[in-house]
Amino acid sequence: MSDDIKKQTTSLSEFDNELASLNMRGQWQYDSLLERVIGGPKPAGVPYLWKWETVHEKLLEACDVMPESYTARRNFSFMNPGLERGGTTQTLIMGMQIVRPGEVAWAHRHTIGAVRFVVEGGEQLYTTVNGERLLMEPNDLILTPNWNWHDHHNETDKNAIWVDALDVPLVLALNQIFYEPFGETTQPQRESSADYWSRRGSLVRPAWEQRPEQNFPFRYPWHEVSAQLHEMAGSEGSPYDDIVLEYVNPFTGSSALPTMGCNIQMLRPGFVGKSHRQTSSAVYFVVEGEGTTVVGDEEINWSARDSFVVPNWIPHHHINRSKSREAILFSINDIPVLQGLGLYHEDPENTIRTRPLPPLLA
Ligand SMILES: [Fe+2]
Ligand SMILES: [Fe+2]
Repeated sequence: MSDDIKKQTTSLSEFDNELASLNMRGQWQYDSLLERVIGGPKPAGVPYLWKWETVHEKLLEACDVMPESYTARRNFSFMNPGLERGGTTQTLIMGMQIVRPGEVAWAHRHTIGAVRFVVEGGEQLYTTVNGERLLMEPNDLILTPNWNWHDHHNETDKNAIWVDALDVPLVLALNQIFYEPFGETTQPQRESSADYWSRRGSLVRPAWEQRPEQNFPFRYPWHEVSAQLHEMAGSEGSPYDDIVLEYVNPFTGSSALPTMGCNIQMLRPGFVGKSHRQTSSAVYFVVEGEGTTVVGDEEINWSARDSFVVPNWIPHHHINRSKSREAILFSINDIPVLQGLGLYHEDPENTIRTRPLPPLLA
């Protein structure tokens, strides 16, 4: 070896050290990392199932150990055992909250966006979001978007329970968390429902007003969603997800929130889905039925009110184990974030909004 070459090989590591002392790093040090990401990212976290029996039991125990709660904190988050930095997926945190009869969870707001899917509710359960009273009946979905004041009220005579999903890991990663208490237990409610933003998300709206874009209070009543889901039960559907409907922003047709997409899907009796993987991650709540979701090498056997997680970029498929009963899954995903950044895709084929609409009659 010539003295020149020897000088070069010994001096590269010295040079790396010298750069490090100056808070710099050569791109050549990432060569081994590049080999690890050929074929895409390693899934963040693992598939996991939280059984309703256990979750429900712990929710009731939480009422014993915490007889009163006014801070919206009698809530468990589902922690993915494969994610060191916390969260249910790398972008989403899903949890379950219980509010006892008569309780109010005090008003506050934050730059974290949230959605709530009601497990046990009623006509006297509601969340006020920016002054709008949103009813929470079983299987309703309500939005508490980024920076909207919200307080929860259980005026029923039973415990109220809902699933919530928040974009905490994403907003934390971006270091964009703001939080503010309202300062009083509850915020004032608008006197007239004619002023509700959510009233502008129906078939007609005031022609003299600007069009809202995003981050407004909204309720998706189950009776309407369920009716449409069942109306479409005879459609072709998706070979991966069967009859899957997106909750949409009623003004723009885009996702329910900019950071979170929500789906309701019916797996018809005996449905066995094709396997695919998506760059997105998703958390699921089983509304009804029994089935299996195969995620990588894991079989997740779910039944009503269970919750489970499908991490990003891991092959998965859904099976309805019943030959006579439908299964219904509610899910939340981070597809809108990835689509906004041009990073969303599926393997082996992109299926979201790719099929032609039903043809018009000639
Ligand atoms: Fe909150
Ligand atoms: Fe999927």
